[in-house]
Amino acid sequence: MDELILAIESSCDETSVAVVRNGEEILSNIVASQIKSHQRFGGVVPEVASRHHVEQITLCMEEALTTAKVSPNDLTAVAVTYGPGLVGSLLIGLSAAKAFAFAHNLPLLPINHMAGHIYAARFVKPLVFPLMALLVSGGHTELVYMQADGQFEIIGETRDDAAGEAYDKVGRVLGLTYPSGKEIDQLAHLGEDVFHFPRAMINEENYDFSFSGLKSAFINLVHNAKQKGESLSKADLAASFQASVVEVLVTKTIRACQNYPVKQLILAGGVAANQGLRSALINAVENQLSDVELLIPPLRLCGDNAAMIASYAHVALKKKEFGQMSVNALPSLAFERMTE
Ligand code: KG4
Ligand code: ZN
Repeated sequence: MDELILAIESSCDETSVAVVRNGEEILSNIVASQIKSHQRFGGVVPEVASRHHVEQITLCMEEALTTAKVSPNDLTAVAVTYGPGLVGSLLIGLSAAKAFAFAHNLPLLPINHMAGHIYAARFVKPLVFPLMALLVSGGHTELVYMQADGQFEIIGETRDDAAGEAYDKVGRVLGLTYPSGKEIDQLAHLGEDVFHFPRAMINEENYDFSFSGLKSAFINLVHNAKQKGESLSKADLAASFQASVVEVLVTKTIRACQNYPVKQLILAGGVAANQGLRSALINAVENQLSDVELLIPPLRLCGDNAAMIASYAHVALKKKEFGQMSVNALPSLAFERMTE
């Protein structure tokens, strides 16, 4: 009999519900974005986010089931993101999942949002272990080593800002709307790396990252130019910023893949939508790694969505990682850091 998982994602500013068959076929993946409501504040406002999730969650659940042509009785389990994320937002999805699981007598699978981002790549191809994942999103930047299905070890991470966060902060200085990653990416292709911003930690013998120095260098340059009455090319600023981010991410990721016995490399998270990063990583893997297969999820599965949560839920179900009705939201849920 087919395994059918209904998954719910509400950790930040997207309400999403998906139905996935046998861990590999997306029957529906409804994503209700609230980004327009947050744009005038220049970032996600937690209270506003929670209110939107409340309004959207049942509609999304109904739509996901209707689109998938699946009735609650056909389902095998209900999966839901329980962290990391905004506590109020997480609680809406978690409460909806618990109520639904209870009403239909289905097992509950609480899922780590970051595991979901990695397993978005499962829709491209089956995962082969050991593998490395570069996870780049609005809240996280980390290199995750996986020895087997469901085993996550952080070998390096950002010591300050996440890559997506740096994109959004720099975008604000350029007067772009939030979130500005995509627009900076587009601008970057029209300009050149004329400012040569620092490449923090690129030569250090670890897999950690730092983006706050780059952000400060960028802001200082723009402010100083403004004070002198000079205007700088937005395209060149974007290109210079992106060149620094991409070079550091790619260099350290390739080094990690050379030092660990990996068969696959996964690029995941919202920033994985970045065209500059995608093409630089494709080139670097081709030229510098032999026998490592690069998996990059399609654009629609890079940002937050529930299909990726269902994808990891397929593994969680096999591993019997069930949750009780008492399971709580964990806003700071994180993978273990590998001890050297
Ligand atoms: O994974 P995600 O959708 O949400 C989190 O879990 O954080 O990632 C959102 C982040 C935002 O910071 C956004 O600016 C960034 O992903 N982003 C991009 C691009 N598209 C989205 N950053 C760089 N280039 C892009 N094309
Ligand atoms: Zn995310």
